[in-house]
Amino acid sequence: MRANRRRVAMLAALVSVLACSPADEPPPGTTPVADSRAGAPGIGDTDFPQDGNGGYDVTHYDLAIDYTPATKRLDGVTTVRAAATQELSSFNLDLTGLDVREVAVDGSPATFSRKGDELTVRPGGVIGEGAPFTVRVTYSGMPKPAKDSANLGTYGFIPTADGAFVASEPNGSKTWFPNNDHPADKATFDFAITVPEGLTALANGEMAGQPTTAGGKTTYRWREGHPMATYLATATLGKFDLRTGTTATGIPNLAAADPKYKSSLDSLYTLSGEITDHWATVFGPYPFSSTGGVVDDYAAGYALENQTKPLYGGFDPDETIIAHELAHQWFGNSLTVKRWKDLWLNEGFATYAEWLWSEHKGRKSAEATFQELRKRPENDPMWQYPPGRAKPDDLFNSSVYTRGGMTLHALRKEIGDDTFFALLRTWAAEHRHGNVTTEQFTALAERLSGKELDALFDAWLHQPRRPA
Ligand code: TRP
Ligand code: ZN
Repeated sequence: MRANRRRVAMLAALVSVLACSPADEPPPGTTPVADSRAGAPGIGDTDFPQDGNGGYDVTHYDLAIDYTPATKRLDGVTTVRAAATQELSSFNLDLTGLDVREVAVDGSPATFSRKGDELTVRPGGVIGEGAPFTVRVTYSGMPKPAKDSANLGTYGFIPTADGAFVASEPNGSKTWFPNNDHPADKATFDFAITVPEGLTALANGEMAGQPTTAGGKTTYRWREGHPMATYLATATLGKFDLRTGTTATGIPNLAAADPKYKSSLDSLYTLSGEITDHWATVFGPYPFSSTGGVVDDYAAGYALENQTKPLYGGFDPDETIIAHELAHQWFGNSLTVKRWKDLWLNEGFATYAEWLWSEHKGRKSAEATFQELRKRPENDPMWQYPPGRAKPDDLFNSSVYTRGGMTLHALRKEIGDDTFFALLRTWAAEHRHGNVTTEQFTALAERLSGKELDALFDAWLHQPRRPA
């Protein structure tokens, strides 16, 4: 493939010389230099230089996956629809492990190579800037989860006794399908997931038709028609009891629980419905077409806000964590960070939502929680870690959650309840289904309040000490 690649590059150089030699092409006969038309191996998040890729923008993923828990083998065909944002002689997808059998671009065979978590695809011809294209990757193998030493332990595609627990934040979706694995590139998704008959496959969005069974296998089809970050994609598989219906305001609601957590099914269903409807009154219209949640028998001890279907790992979810994960449907999923350093826009907001839920229920007020946390001594680690700049090696530090939530409460006190809640709704409305930065949030807060808020945000988000 290496020799072939050089031949293609020289041919391309010759062709462009004949066409109208661009300044960046080496003269024919000289050693080819790196092709400026190669898509970058990273999307440009300097904290995660290998995550995502440059040169294209994904619009849709179509995943066909067959998984056999007994052998832990996955057979997949992923079709990515994208648009080139530059001329592309080659481009990368992110993929960890697994064997790639075939890659086709626009239906024609493409050559490819692997290095680390990068799959480099070289189509037969150069893709023009702005051109739409599709890439189909046929692959198989035993998916291995990713590991994070600081906060999370295991994430990505995690095999379980009866299937798989799939929770991929921040960059674990590449453990089970090739993709542009960074939140800055959101896309819609179709899933066709085949499992042994008797198991259930739970992905994002809504079911697209009834499951079909043939030859002892059942295929479940799901569709997420709203843009979704790759880390929120799931294909959680196993034995599940289901409860379906609609929330009081009419949003389709699906709860699923591993039989071991059967007693959680009704409370998960009821609370997910009630909380989704309540958040819509606080944050504005629910951004997706269904809600719910999944409890699986995998002792993660944490939950992930998978789009439309938060996933709870090995515990009975209570109101607080359901309130947190469903608040993420607005803050994190509809409004998604452009860079991981701004993660407090997800976790600070979802943590603050926990305090708002308690206040709503007439229990502890957000102010009481804030005052309690405020008393933590000067040497508490939270005061040393400024949450406005999440550290790549300690992304989910509890300060990003707790001090991030406190930042919002300090802001609420500064600008008053009316402006604060209008700000939350305007923020959610103006950036619905988009990508966001801290600077956009602070600018909107200043615009709506008419106040200069630099000092407040600087003290709460950026200083390694307890705000005065
Ligand atoms: N975003 C999750 C939460 O706070 C936490 C989390 C981060 C996570 N990465 C994960 C959970 C990976 C499961 C797997 O709600
Ligand atoms: Zn969270």
